[in-house]
Amino acid sequence: MEVKQVKLVYFSPTGTTQKVLEGIAKGIGVEGVEQINLTLPEGTQQAIPPFADELVIIGAPVYGGRLPVDAIKRLNNLKATNTLAVLVVVYGNREFEDALLELKNLSIELGFSPVAGAAFIGEHSFATADVPIANGRPDSQDVQRAMDFGARIKDKIAALESPDAKIDLELPGNFPYEAGGARPMAVAPVTIEDTCTVCGTCASVCPTAAISINGSVATEIELCIRCCACIKSCPEGARVMEDSKWKSIATWLNENCSARKEPQLFGVGV
Ligand SMILES: Cc1cc2nc3c(=O)[nH]c(=O)nc-3n(C[C@H](O)[C@H](O)[C@H](O)COP(=O)(O)O)c2cc1C
Ligand code: SF4
Ligand code: SF4
Repeated sequence: MEVKQVKLVYFSPTGTTQKVLEGIAKGIGVEGVEQINLTLPEGTQQAIPPFADELVIIGAPVYGGRLPVDAIKRLNNLKATNTLAVLVVVYGNREFEDALLELKNLSIELGFSPVAGAAFIGEHSFATADVPIANGRPDSQDVQRAMDFGARIKDKIAALESPDAKIDLELPGNFPYEAGGARPMAVAPVTIEDTCTVCGTCASVCPTAAISINGSVATEIELCIRCCACIKSCPEGARVMEDSKWKSIATWLNENCSARKEPQLFGVGV
């Protein structure tokens, strides 16, 4: 089977998942790459035409060893027939636990045929310059690995007769799931009023519409999923994590999860 085009479907508040998927698509080496970005609030209602007879790369970050609830909500709108799926989770150098298996199970429920899977590392959402956790990842080495993965996927698919070929893809993880997912904490980043220019960037990147701008920045704490997109995108450094429990989780991750982990690939013979 020849791959002529590929669709990237992802939830990626801080952009690391998107970057990994783009590396994989580059490695597959097709001209037609369509991006279906489900990150913003519209992603929950976006009408996406059903996939048929094609190749889709589905990506999501790992939150608490599982898929983010908001990624599942958006992915549940997808439908597929005779469509091969490459499944990718991106995690912040702690662990990915059951997330990749959960993505496989979800993709099968939606009608996809999983052909390969991978867990890549991305800068942890909670990381800052002062408290680094896998900062700068995916880096050039990770992107190279993503491209190699893409090349291997292309070879694997070239050997298939059709997209409905039955592939037995084994992925790590527990079922029933053991990881508990991201625990609700009822906290959100705060805005340093003196530094904020009320530019609105934070509101425009928030996946849950938790931020509104009306002369100043207001945050609805109950809607916040702690994705940190607002913190990382603020041009003034005016969005910060202030909550002591949240900051101590970041410190723990910095102290215990700094040893570099490498991407793991499944279903491509390595
Ligand atoms: C609420 C929350 C929970 C997270 N849980 C984990 C985790 O269990 N393991 C891990 O290694 N990284 C975890 N992370 C880090 C993200 O998986 C990681 O930063 C990822 O690269 C973010 O993807 P994105 O850039 O596409 O948003 C968590 C991040 C958030 C916001
Ligand atoms: S992105 Fe930063 S500067 Fe802009 S409105 Fe938000 S907090 Fe203020
Ligand atoms: S307010 Fe919360 S959900 Fe919205 S971008 Fe910031 S951290 Fe993410």
